[in-house]
Amino acid sequence: MECWILYDGDFESHQPGAYETRRFIEAGRKHGVNISVYKPEQFDLIVNCDDRDSVMIDSRTLPLPDFVLTRISGDVNYFTLAVIRHLERLGVPCFNSSEALEAVKDKLHSQQMLAEHNLPVPNTMLGKFPVDIDMVEQKIGFPVVVKTLVGTHGNGVFLCEDRDRFTDLMHLLNETSPDIHIIFQEFVAASHGRDLRVFVIDGKVVAAMKRESKDGNFKANFSRGGSVEEFAVTPEIEELAIESARALNLDIAGVDILFDDDGYQICEANGAPDFRGLESCCNVSIADEILGTIINHVVALHAREVLHFPMRAQPVNS
Ligand SMILES: Nc1ncnc2c1ncn2[C@@H]1O[C@H](COP(=O)(O)OP(=O)(O)O)[C@@H](O)[C@H]1O
Ligand SMILES: [Mg+2]
Repeated sequence: MECWILYDGDFESHQPGAYETRRFIEAGRKHGVNISVYKPEQFDLIVNCDDRDSVMIDSRTLPLPDFVLTRISGDVNYFTLAVIRHLERLGVPCFNSSEALEAVKDKLHSQQMLAEHNLPVPNTMLGKFPVDIDMVEQKIGFPVVVKTLVGTHGNGVFLCEDRDRFTDLMHLLNETSPDIHIIFQEFVAASHGRDLRVFVIDGKVVAAMKRESKDGNFKANFSRGGSVEEFAVTPEIEELAIESARALNLDIAGVDILFDDDGYQICEANGAPDFRGLESCCNVSIADEILGTIINHVVALHAREVLHFPMRAQPVNS
């Protein structure tokens, strides 16, 4: 089988997502999957009625792969989404899909989708300038978490302890970057410096870990140096994670769950989740789990294609 990984970094580096890409290549060898890694900008998309089975990479037309792993670690921008959509239209299964990646790239949109499915999310408000400080105090309260709409690895997530600090930050942003899109979110104090990362593949929890910041910061991200330990999920957490992935149409999801006084709140779900932390503390090979699940799925798709093909080939008036 042939697989393309769409990755925006250098997989031989220490960049986010590089470890995971190398793990996929390793697992691919075991599963008989030949993996090629491409950056979105290597693609050229040409839309016409004839040459429907091809895309160009580095100006060369290549045969299409059996499936694509969409492993964008930075911003999922328009060009990247266009590449994934093009591949999907050519019939190549992409994990995760363009639709799911578009939903989770926007932190407000994904919170809206989770809330629509009755999943617990912290009160969240879309920011606009000039910011109505009184309204934020009334609707969200202080301390408040300020997040850029797009961002990963804890970058772009700030905690304003009180009204004064929030006012200062808003003045600064208003002066320097009034076009920035931000959200204001209720601070879930019980989760200060700790949270859960639950990994869901095809509607099943395959591993979970508790993350804890080591420097007293409220952010628990592993990529910020947080410590990790395996966590045995309860049926409640399992259901929250699976339902979150389902609500966002994610085949592969890293669901971040916050501890609340009397339950949990969904922080976010990632569509190209890192798994170095999970593989380091849980006895699990996430790369193998993902590839194994996808291979079964693709084999089933091919089988159906073969079954359906003679029916589709029937002349209309026969
Ligand atoms: N509303 C919140 N209350 C408490 N802690 C939060 C809240 N939102 C985020 N955090 C902490 O900050 C970390 C990063 O936030 P997150 O929204 O997941 O951004 P990123 O996409 O950069 O990982 C979370 O893993 C969690 O530890
Ligand atoms: Mg996160």
